[in-house]
Amino acid sequence: MADGYTVAVVGAGMVGDRLVAELRRREFPLKELRVLARSARRSVLAGEEFEVGVAGPEAFEGVDIAFFAGTEGEKGAAVQLAREAIARGATVIDNGSDFRLDPEVPLVVPEVNADALKGHGGLVANPNCSTSQMVVTLAPLAREFGLRKVVVSTYQAVSGSGRGGVDALENGREDVYPKPILGNAIPLIGGVGEDGYTSEETKMREESRKILGLPDLEVYATAVRIPVHTGHSESIYIETEREATLPEVLDALRDAPGVVFSGEADDFPTPLEAAGDPGTFVGRVRVEGDRVQYWCVSDNLLKGAATNAVQIAESLVGARV
Ligand SMILES: NC(=O)c1ccc[n+]([C@@H]2O[C@H](COP(=O)([O-])OP(=O)(O)OC[C@H]3O[C@@H](n4cnc5c(N)ncnc54)[C@H](OP(=O)(O)O)[C@@H]3O)[C@@H](O)[C@H]2O)c1
Repeated sequence: MADGYTVAVVGAGMVGDRLVAELRRREFPLKELRVLARSARRSVLAGEEFEVGVAGPEAFEGVDIAFFAGTEGEKGAAVQLAREAIARGATVIDNGSDFRLDPEVPLVVPEVNADALKGHGGLVANPNCSTSQMVVTLAPLAREFGLRKVVVSTYQAVSGSGRGGVDALENGREDVYPKPILGNAIPLIGGVGEDGYTSEETKMREESRKILGLPDLEVYATAVRIPVHTGHSESIYIETEREATLPEVLDALRDAPGVVFSGEADDFPTPLEAAGDPGTFVGRVRVEGDRVQYWCVSDNLLKGAATNAVQIAESLVGARV
């Protein structure tokens, strides 16, 4: 489209802010950029002042692409408004979990499964933050060596819980986490299901299977919240179908799109270094035959949300990925 696209960002929270930043940084072809939330006001997002509009059906008139980052569930923007936006001609890219496992809705990490966008019905889902960075690193290993089993423990930043999480860390807000987060580690993210896994852990299993196209992949996750502002870390152990050597695994990771390889065993990425960078960082790689272990860090608001969403939009409009 020669004169660019009319884009709406729904939600002016942590992810909404980063969406504006990524649209600008990646020079997405914009004709108009609207920011919508529950209430109208003047707000600064990514250093830019916006006249925030109320998210209602009519706000989507003329919108080509709508990025939803307005929370989940019955009261969230996606459940209330995604279909209204689509009915008005917009393609919706949703950051929440409401539609991710719907078989009719592609769940996409462009480096891994951009093909899934073909024939989308106006709605594309962005994966959970801890899943996105993990599948960026699993996909090249699955391609080279085959993948049987994944065991992952996460160390997740408070900005993954939105503005409330940051408020809990910085100001001691008490209604966000089940126990104090400052000086602590909380191994409970989301509600606990009948099988004992939390919703975050179940998302990591089900979303990884869908994105990687491996419906029977064994995935065992333990998701932990830690007092870090931004940047999720993961300790990942996998079992492969074929045996691999350390140089082969390092080559596969070095060549993988989206992966920033942090060097040999004594080098390692940290969330502080990954925050603000769209890459997925890998270090501390260890290989013993068909067992591979590594450390993986990424900015949960970027590759875990905004960067991946803008990459999806770029894939849809045929711009760069
Ligand atoms: N934070 C992350 O790392 C991350 C990563 C991946 C995905 N996500 C998902 O992205 C979404 C946004 O997360 P966040 O971290 O940005 O949350 P946040 O900081 O709490 O911000 C939420 C925003 O959503 C808006 N909102 C809530 N309900 C709405 C509705 N019905 N209609 C319109 N706007 C509504 C709020 O509007 P007001 O400002 O008017 O109250 C607020 O601006 C969530 O679904 C989250 O699960 C987050």
